Amino acid sequence: MHVSQLMQLISGSIYSAIVCATAELEVAEALADGPCTLDELAARCSADREALGRLMRALAALGLVSEAEGRYATTDGLGWLRGSADGSLRALALLGGQPAMQGAWRHCAEAVRTGRTAFELANGRPLFDYLDDHEALRSTFQRSLSGPEAWNQAIADALDLAGRTLVVDVGAGDGRLLAALVRAWPGLRGIAFDRPSVVAAAGRDPSLEWVGGDFFAGVPAGGDVYLLRWVLHDWTDDQAVAILAHCRAAMRAGGVVLLVERLLAEPSDGSAALLDLTMLVLTGGRERTEAEYAALLARAGLRLSRALPTSAGLRILEATAA
Ligand SMILES: C[S@@+](CC[C@H](N)C(=O)[O-])C[C@H]1O[C@@H](n2cnc3c(N)ncnc32)[C@H](O)[C@@H]1O
Repeated sequence: MHVSQLMQLISGSIYSAIVCATAELEVAEALADGPCTLDELAARCSADREALGRLMRALAALGLVSEAEGRYATTDGLGWLRGSADGSLRALALLGGQPAMQGAWRHCAEAVRTGRTAFELANGRPLFDYLDDHEALRSTFQRSLSGPEAWNQAIADALDLAGRTLVVDVGAGDGRLLAALVRAWPGLRGIAFDRPSVVAAAGRDPSLEWVGGDFFAGVPAGGDVYLLRWVLHDWTDDQAVAILAHCRAAMRAGGVVLLVERLLAEPSDGSAALLDLTMLVLTGGRERTEAEYAALLARAGLRLSRALPTSAGLRILEATAA
Protein backbone atom coordinates (compact mmCIF):
# COMPACT_ATOMS: atom_id res chain seq x y z
CA MET A 1 0.00 0.00 0.00
CA HIS A 2 1.25 3.47 -0.88
CA VAL A 3 1.54 5.97 1.98
CA SER A 4 -1.02 8.22 0.24
CA GLN A 5 -3.58 5.42 0.56
CA LEU A 6 -2.85 5.18 4.28
CA MET A 7 -3.26 8.97 4.53
CA GLN A 8 -6.65 8.60 2.90
CA LEU A 9 -7.68 5.94 5.42
CA ILE A 10 -6.50 8.15 8.29
CA SER A 11 -8.69 10.97 6.92
CA GLY A 12 -11.68 8.68 6.41
CA SER A 13 -13.69 10.13 9.30
CA ILE A 14 -13.33 13.62 7.75
CA TYR A 15 -14.82 12.38 4.47
CA SER A 16 -17.73 10.74 6.21
CA ALA A 17 -18.34 13.89 8.31
CA ILE A 18 -18.40 15.99 5.12
CA VAL A 19 -20.91 13.63 3.49
CA CYS A 20 -23.01 13.57 6.68
CA ALA A 21 -23.08 17.41 6.82
CA THR A 22 -24.01 17.54 3.12
CA ALA A 23 -26.91 15.17 3.80
CA GLU A 24 -27.99 17.16 6.86
CA LEU A 25 -27.96 20.44 4.92
CA GLU A 26 -29.88 18.78 2.06
CA VAL A 27 -27.48 20.07 -0.59
CA ALA A 28 -28.61 17.31 -2.97
CA GLU A 29 -32.25 18.40 -2.63
CA ALA A 30 -31.25 22.06 -3.17
CA LEU A 31 -29.53 21.18 -6.47
CA ALA A 32 -32.16 18.70 -7.67
CA ASP A 33 -33.87 21.13 -10.07
CA GLY A 34 -30.71 22.46 -11.71
CA PRO A 35 -27.52 24.44 -11.08
CA CYS A 36 -27.58 27.17 -8.40
CA THR A 37 -25.51 30.15 -7.39
CA LEU A 38 -24.02 30.20 -3.92
CA ASP A 39 -26.61 32.81 -2.85
CA GLU A 40 -29.47 30.56 -3.97
CA LEU A 41 -27.91 27.54 -2.28
CA ALA A 42 -27.29 29.41 0.99
CA ALA A 43 -30.97 30.38 1.08
CA ARG A 44 -32.19 26.88 0.26
CA CYS A 45 -29.90 25.19 2.77
CA SER A 46 -30.36 27.87 5.47
CA ALA A 47 -26.58 28.21 5.66
CA ASP A 48 -23.95 30.89 6.09
CA ARG A 49 -22.98 31.90 2.54
CA GLU A 50 -19.23 32.06 3.08
CA ALA A 51 -19.04 28.82 5.10
CA LEU A 52 -21.24 27.01 2.62
CA GLY A 53 -18.90 28.17 -0.18
CA ARG A 54 -16.07 26.39 1.63
CA LEU A 55 -18.13 23.19 1.92
CA MET A 56 -19.02 23.41 -1.79
CA ARG A 57 -15.33 23.78 -2.71
CA ALA A 58 -14.59 20.64 -0.72
CA LEU A 59 -17.49 18.80 -2.40
CA ALA A 60 -16.17 19.88 -5.82
CA ALA A 61 -12.71 18.54 -4.85
CA LEU A 62 -14.34 15.22 -3.90
CA GLY A 63 -16.26 15.09 -7.21
CA LEU A 64 -19.69 15.35 -5.56
CA VAL A 65 -20.60 18.64 -7.31
CA SER A 66 -19.27 20.51 -10.31
CA GLU A 67 -18.85 24.27 -10.64
CA ALA A 68 -19.01 26.41 -13.77
CA GLU A 69 -19.52 30.19 -14.13
CA GLY A 70 -20.38 30.64 -10.48
CA ARG A 71 -23.06 27.97 -10.44
CA TYR A 72 -22.92 24.61 -8.70
CA ALA A 73 -24.45 21.50 -10.24
CA THR A 74 -25.14 18.05 -8.82
CA THR A 75 -23.39 14.85 -9.96
CA ASP A 76 -24.74 11.30 -10.10
CA GLY A 77 -22.91 10.62 -6.81
CA LEU A 78 -24.60 13.49 -4.98
CA GLY A 79 -27.96 12.35 -6.38
CA TRP A 80 -27.76 9.27 -4.08
CA LEU A 81 -27.96 11.62 -1.09
CA ARG A 82 -31.44 12.84 -2.06
CA GLY A 83 -33.84 11.43 0.53
CA SER A 84 -36.50 10.66 -2.08
CA ALA A 85 -34.18 8.75 -4.47
CA ASP A 86 -34.85 5.01 -4.86
CA GLY A 87 -32.06 3.35 -2.87
CA SER A 88 -31.15 6.70 -1.28
CA LEU A 89 -27.97 6.67 0.83
CA ARG A 90 -29.01 9.77 2.81
CA ALA A 91 -30.04 7.84 5.93
CA LEU A 92 -26.80 5.82 5.84
CA ALA A 93 -24.81 9.04 5.57
CA LEU A 94 -26.70 10.54 8.52
CA LEU A 95 -26.39 7.38 10.59
CA GLY A 96 -22.59 7.47 10.49
CA GLY A 97 -22.64 10.94 12.06
CA GLN A 98 -24.79 9.98 15.05
CA PRO A 99 -22.94 10.15 18.41
CA ALA A 100 -24.07 6.64 19.44
CA MET A 101 -22.57 5.15 16.27
CA GLN A 102 -19.39 7.21 16.41
CA GLY A 103 -18.99 6.28 20.08
CA ALA A 104 -19.19 2.61 19.13
CA TRP A 105 -16.38 2.93 16.59
CA ARG A 106 -14.25 4.78 19.12
CA HIS A 107 -14.36 1.56 21.18
CA CYS A 108 -13.23 -0.64 18.28
CA ALA A 109 -9.78 -1.33 19.76
CA GLU A 110 -11.32 -2.33 23.11
CA ALA A 111 -13.75 -4.62 21.30
CA VAL A 112 -10.86 -6.29 19.51
CA ARG A 113 -8.90 -6.62 22.76
CA THR A 114 -11.79 -8.10 24.72
CA GLY A 115 -14.17 -9.59 22.10
CA ARG A 116 -16.95 -7.46 23.60
CA THR A 117 -19.37 -5.43 21.48
CA ALA A 118 -18.16 -1.85 20.99
CA PHE A 119 -21.69 -0.38 20.85
CA GLU A 120 -22.42 -1.72 24.33
CA LEU A 121 -19.08 -0.50 25.67
CA ALA A 122 -19.90 2.99 24.37
CA ASN A 123 -23.63 3.21 25.04
CA GLY A 124 -24.19 0.79 27.93
CA ARG A 125 -26.77 -1.32 26.07
CA PRO A 126 -27.07 -3.51 22.97
CA LEU A 127 -27.92 -1.64 19.76
CA PHE A 128 -31.52 -2.85 19.32
CA ASP A 129 -32.42 -2.16 22.99
CA TYR A 130 -30.96 1.31 22.60
CA LEU A 131 -32.93 1.90 19.39
CA ASP A 132 -36.18 1.01 21.21
CA ASP A 133 -35.77 4.20 23.28
CA HIS A 134 -34.30 6.49 20.60
CA GLU A 135 -36.98 7.00 18.01
CA ALA A 136 -35.12 9.36 15.67
CA LEU A 137 -32.05 7.13 15.57
CA ARG A 138 -34.26 4.04 15.07
CA SER A 139 -35.98 5.65 12.13
CA THR A 140 -32.64 6.67 10.55
CA PHE A 141 -31.30 3.14 11.17
CA GLN A 142 -34.33 1.49 9.56
CA ARG A 143 -34.21 3.82 6.54
CA SER A 144 -30.47 3.21 6.15
CA LEU A 145 -31.20 -0.48 5.50
CA SER A 146 -33.58 0.08 2.58
CA GLY A 147 -31.61 -0.68 -0.54
CA PRO A 148 -32.91 0.06 -4.03
CA GLU A 149 -36.28 -1.47 -4.89
CA ALA A 150 -34.40 -3.50 -7.53
CA TRP A 151 -32.80 -5.59 -4.74
CA ASN A 152 -36.23 -6.56 -3.41
CA GLN A 153 -37.45 -7.28 -6.93
CA ALA A 154 -34.37 -9.43 -7.62
CA ILE A 155 -35.20 -11.55 -4.55
CA ALA A 156 -38.87 -11.81 -5.59
CA ASP A 157 -37.77 -12.87 -9.10
CA ALA A 158 -35.42 -15.56 -7.75
CA LEU A 159 -38.11 -17.24 -5.62
CA ASP A 160 -40.93 -19.54 -6.64
CA LEU A 161 -43.65 -19.09 -4.02
CA ALA A 162 -46.45 -20.72 -6.02
CA GLY A 163 -48.65 -22.73 -3.66
CA ARG A 164 -47.31 -20.91 -0.59
CA THR A 165 -49.90 -19.06 1.49
CA LEU A 166 -48.16 -17.24 4.36
CA VAL A 167 -44.71 -15.64 4.53
CA VAL A 168 -43.49 -14.53 7.96
CA ASP A 169 -40.73 -11.94 7.64
CA VAL A 170 -38.75 -12.28 10.87
CA GLY A 171 -37.11 -8.94 11.76
CA ALA A 172 -38.93 -7.35 8.83
CA GLY A 173 -37.76 -3.76 9.35
CA ASP A 174 -39.74 -1.48 7.04
CA GLY A 175 -41.33 -4.51 5.33
CA ARG A 176 -40.39 -3.42 1.80
CA LEU A 177 -38.99 -6.83 0.84
CA LEU A 178 -42.08 -8.63 2.12
CA ALA A 179 -44.32 -6.15 0.30
CA ALA A 180 -42.46 -6.95 -2.95
CA LEU A 181 -43.11 -10.69 -2.42
CA VAL A 182 -46.81 -10.15 -1.66
CA ARG A 183 -47.11 -8.01 -4.81
CA ALA A 184 -45.35 -10.63 -6.94
CA TRP A 185 -47.48 -13.55 -5.66
CA PRO A 186 -51.16 -12.53 -5.49
CA GLY A 187 -53.01 -14.38 -2.73
CA LEU A 188 -49.89 -14.66 -0.58
CA ARG A 189 -50.28 -13.25 2.96
CA GLY A 190 -47.38 -11.49 4.59
CA ILE A 191 -46.75 -11.08 8.33
CA ALA A 192 -44.09 -8.48 9.12
CA PHE A 193 -42.71 -9.43 12.54
CA ASP A 194 -40.39 -7.08 14.40
CA ARG A 195 -39.84 -5.43 17.76
CA PRO A 196 -42.90 -3.60 19.10
CA SER A 197 -41.08 -0.24 18.74
CA VAL A 198 -40.54 -0.88 15.01
CA VAL A 199 -44.06 -2.20 14.39
CA ALA A 200 -45.56 0.85 16.16
CA ALA A 201 -43.70 3.28 13.87
CA ALA A 202 -45.66 5.43 11.45
CA GLY A 203 -45.94 4.64 7.73
CA ARG A 204 -46.38 0.86 7.90
CA ASP A 205 -47.32 -0.82 4.63
CA PRO A 206 -51.07 -1.63 4.85
CA SER A 207 -50.73 -4.63 2.48
CA LEU A 208 -48.96 -6.49 5.34
CA GLU A 209 -50.03 -7.76 8.76
CA TRP A 210 -47.75 -6.24 11.39
CA VAL A 211 -46.96 -8.22 14.55
CA GLY A 212 -44.71 -7.00 17.35
CA GLY A 213 -42.67 -9.36 19.50
CA ASP A 214 -39.28 -10.78 20.40
CA PHE A 215 -37.82 -13.49 18.17
CA PHE A 216 -35.93 -14.91 21.15
CA ALA A 217 -39.30 -15.69 22.74
CA GLY A 218 -41.04 -16.98 19.59
CA VAL A 219 -42.26 -16.04 16.10
CA PRO A 220 -45.79 -16.09 14.59
CA ALA A 221 -46.88 -19.67 13.90
CA GLY A 222 -48.37 -21.28 10.80
CA GLY A 223 -46.25 -19.78 8.04
CA ASP A 224 -45.00 -21.88 5.19
CA VAL A 225 -42.13 -19.48 4.50
CA TYR A 226 -39.94 -17.86 7.18
CA LEU A 227 -37.84 -15.08 5.69
CA LEU A 228 -34.82 -13.59 7.47
CA ARG A 229 -32.90 -10.92 5.59
CA TRP A 230 -29.87 -9.39 7.31
CA VAL A 231 -31.05 -10.72 10.65
CA LEU A 232 -28.78 -13.62 11.63
CA HIS A 233 -25.62 -11.60 10.99
CA ASP A 234 -26.61 -9.37 13.94
CA TRP A 235 -26.23 -12.23 16.40
CA THR A 236 -23.79 -14.75 17.87
CA ASP A 237 -24.01 -18.40 16.77
CA ASP A 238 -26.03 -19.44 19.83
CA GLN A 239 -28.47 -16.55 19.40
CA ALA A 240 -28.84 -17.24 15.67
CA VAL A 241 -29.61 -20.90 16.41
CA ALA A 242 -32.26 -19.82 18.96
CA ILE A 243 -34.01 -17.64 16.33
CA LEU A 244 -33.86 -20.43 13.74
CA ALA A 245 -35.19 -22.98 16.22
CA HIS A 246 -38.24 -20.75 16.83
CA CYS A 247 -38.83 -20.57 13.04
CA ARG A 248 -38.46 -24.36 12.80
CA ALA A 249 -40.98 -24.88 15.61
CA ALA A 250 -43.47 -22.36 14.19
CA MET A 251 -43.48 -23.40 10.53
CA ARG A 252 -46.07 -25.64 8.88
CA ALA A 253 -45.14 -29.07 7.52
CA GLY A 254 -43.39 -28.63 4.18
CA GLY A 255 -42.35 -25.07 5.06
CA VAL A 256 -39.04 -23.41 4.26
CA VAL A 257 -36.71 -20.94 5.95
CA LEU A 258 -35.09 -18.42 3.61
CA LEU A 259 -31.93 -16.60 4.68
CA VAL A 260 -30.73 -13.58 2.75
CA GLU A 261 -27.27 -12.58 3.92
CA ARG A 262 -23.98 -11.35 2.54
CA LEU A 263 -21.87 -14.52 2.46
CA LEU A 264 -18.22 -14.43 3.47
CA ALA A 265 -16.21 -15.97 0.70
CA GLU A 266 -13.36 -18.31 1.51
CA PRO A 267 -10.58 -17.35 2.01
CA SER A 268 -11.66 -13.68 2.14
CA ASP A 269 -13.82 -11.01 0.52
CA GLY A 270 -13.05 -7.33 1.11
CA SER A 271 -16.49 -5.79 1.56
CA ALA A 272 -17.91 -8.69 3.58
CA ALA A 273 -14.82 -8.50 5.82
CA LEU A 274 -15.56 -4.81 6.54
CA LEU A 275 -19.20 -5.65 7.24
CA ASP A 276 -18.04 -8.45 9.55
CA LEU A 277 -15.96 -5.99 11.59
CA THR A 278 -18.94 -3.60 11.62
CA MET A 279 -20.99 -6.40 13.21
CA LEU A 280 -18.34 -6.84 15.94
CA VAL A 281 -18.55 -3.11 16.63
CA LEU A 282 -22.31 -2.56 16.41
CA THR A 283 -24.19 -5.74 17.30
CA GLY A 284 -21.82 -8.48 18.44
CA GLY A 285 -22.85 -10.56 15.41
CA ARG A 286 -20.75 -11.72 12.47
CA GLU A 287 -20.78 -12.42 8.73
CA ARG A 288 -20.55 -16.10 7.84
CA THR A 289 -19.69 -18.46 5.01
CA GLU A 290 -22.34 -20.68 3.43
CA ALA A 291 -20.90 -23.66 5.33
CA GLU A 292 -21.19 -21.76 8.62
CA TYR A 293 -24.86 -20.96 7.91
CA ALA A 294 -25.44 -24.63 7.04
CA ALA A 295 -23.98 -25.59 10.44
CA LEU A 296 -26.27 -23.13 12.28
CA LEU A 297 -29.30 -24.45 10.39
CA ALA A 298 -28.37 -28.01 11.30
CA ARG A 299 -28.15 -27.11 14.99
CA ALA A 300 -31.73 -25.76 14.73
CA GLY A 301 -33.13 -28.92 13.10
CA LEU A 302 -33.02 -27.54 9.56
CA ARG A 303 -31.14 -28.62 6.44
CA LEU A 304 -29.68 -26.26 3.84
CA SER A 305 -31.38 -27.49 0.66
CA ARG A 306 -30.11 -25.01 -1.90
CA ALA A 307 -28.49 -21.62 -2.50
CA LEU A 308 -30.33 -19.46 -5.01
CA PRO A 309 -28.48 -16.73 -6.89
CA THR A 310 -30.24 -13.40 -7.52
CA SER A 311 -29.62 -10.84 -10.24
CA ALA A 312 -28.58 -8.33 -7.52
CA GLY A 313 -25.61 -10.53 -6.54
CA LEU A 314 -27.18 -11.59 -3.22
CA ARG A 315 -27.71 -15.28 -2.46
CA ILE A 316 -30.73 -16.82 -0.83
CA LEU A 317 -30.15 -19.88 1.34
CA GLU A 318 -33.20 -22.15 1.46
CA ALA A 319 -33.63 -24.64 4.31
CA THR A 320 -36.21 -27.29 5.06
CA ALA A 321 -36.90 -29.40 8.14
CA ALA A 322 -34.06 -31.87 8.65
C1 LIG B 1 -30.56 -5.42 10.16
S1 LIG B 1 -32.27 -5.24 10.38
C2 LIG B 1 -32.95 -6.07 8.95
C3 LIG B 1 -34.32 -5.55 8.58
C4 LIG B 1 -35.00 -6.21 7.38
N1 LIG B 1 -35.01 -7.65 7.47
C5 LIG B 1 -34.37 -5.77 6.07
O1 LIG B 1 -33.92 -6.62 5.32
O2 LIG B 1 -34.35 -4.54 5.77
C6 LIG B 1 -32.63 -6.34 11.70
C7 LIG B 1 -34.05 -6.26 12.19
O3 LIG B 1 -34.23 -7.17 13.29
C8 LIG B 1 -35.09 -6.56 14.22
N2 LIG B 1 -34.91 -7.13 15.56
C9 LIG B 1 -33.86 -6.97 16.38
N3 LIG B 1 -34.06 -7.63 17.53
C10 LIG B 1 -35.28 -8.24 17.44
C11 LIG B 1 -36.03 -9.08 18.30
N4 LIG B 1 -35.54 -9.45 19.51
N5 LIG B 1 -37.23 -9.53 17.89
C12 LIG B 1 -37.73 -9.16 16.67
N6 LIG B 1 -37.04 -8.36 15.78
C13 LIG B 1 -35.82 -7.91 16.17
C14 LIG B 1 -34.66 -5.09 14.18
O4 LIG B 1 -35.61 -4.22 14.75
C15 LIG B 1 -34.43 -4.88 12.69
O5 LIG B 1 -35.60 -4.42 12.04
